[in-house]
Amino acid sequence: MASSLQTPTPVAVETFDAVIADALATPDLTATLAAYPDRATALVGAARELARRAFVLEDDAALDIAHRTLYHLGAQAAWSPVDAVRDNEHDLTIAAVRLELERAFEEQLDRNAPLPEAPPEDPAALRAWLTDLALERDLFPAPSMGAYYREQATLDQLREVVAQRSLFFLKEPDPWTMVIPSLRGKAKAGLIDLILDEYGWGRHDQMHSTVYATLMEKLDLDTDYDHYLDQTAWPFLAGLNFQAMVARHRRLCRRMYGYIYLVEADSPGSMKNYLAAYARAGIEDPDVLSFYELHIDADEGHADVALNEVVMPVVESEPGAAAEVARGVVQGRYLHALVSRHLHAAFSAGASSLRGADR
Ligand SMILES: [Fe+2]
Ligand SMILES: [Fe+2]
Repeated sequence: MASSLQTPTPVAVETFDAVIADALATPDLTATLAAYPDRATALVGAARELARRAFVLEDDAALDIAHRTLYHLGAQAAWSPVDAVRDNEHDLTIAAVRLELERAFEEQLDRNAPLPEAPPEDPAALRAWLTDLALERDLFPAPSMGAYYREQATLDQLREVVAQRSLFFLKEPDPWTMVIPSLRGKAKAGLIDLILDEYGWGRHDQMHSTVYATLMEKLDLDTDYDHYLDQTAWPFLAGLNFQAMVARHRRLCRRMYGYIYLVEADSPGSMKNYLAAYARAGIEDPDVLSFYELHIDADEGHADVALNEVVMPVVESEPGAAAEVARGVVQGRYLHALVSRHLHAAFSAGASSLRGADR
């Protein structure tokens, strides 16, 4: 809506995600901002203020709006259908807005989730250290959602998790493909091998995203991309925004290799916990269970490939990369802990984990 950009009122930080969604869809945005340069300044100023409230003050409402804005600008842009309205993705003011938010998000991650120590130089020691960081080390206090799934989760709670995770799993592993061109040699071959498995080696029925869609249908959930965006709590968006950010910045993309390793290493255990929850709920439908079952075996192999055929070849050819790869693991753990804290707080209070459920 050009009108919202022409009015002299200040840009509202509290509804900045809607302002940016409108701006992305405004046909003549660049010309409008050229005619009203104070509006461009106000947009960037509002982004800076939102970034401060969200990523410096860590105000919950601001984090919600900041991550929704980043999702519109980066995560959704890369993977949404081509008919989505985003004429102004590369407008310079929009780019400045995105950088204001991303820089503050990156600083927050570096501040809250730094490396606990420098990575070991010996390859065997590095491998063991990364595995410890991903699976064993008590880095960020969060209640165990694994135990909750095994012992308490209801089918309604599982449906909420499936709905919110659909923002990733209906497009698994699209964010990861964005870093293929950043790799060379053995590491590139390793990542492609892993990713081909996620895409079912080109068989539509075997793509993990297809298996996830079947799971959603069986749970009476909508399988359209981003259908649950408005109801998805911001910690889920933070993980997607992290991936979009590190994938797009060449300076940060080594964090994605570590993040992929973390996700794959963590997956078999998580999938077993979900299966235990479905078993307790009396669900035996193979169309519900197969997404989880297939990941128990597949991701054990994927974790091995991610560590030994992607991460280690990268570090061998560029020893200085180890710290950045490890940041991908540690910052991924931080972001996953945010999700666990959110889900556990909602569920253990008998509340919905969906955004807006309490409004
Ligand atoms: Fe998968
Ligand atoms: Fe996988």
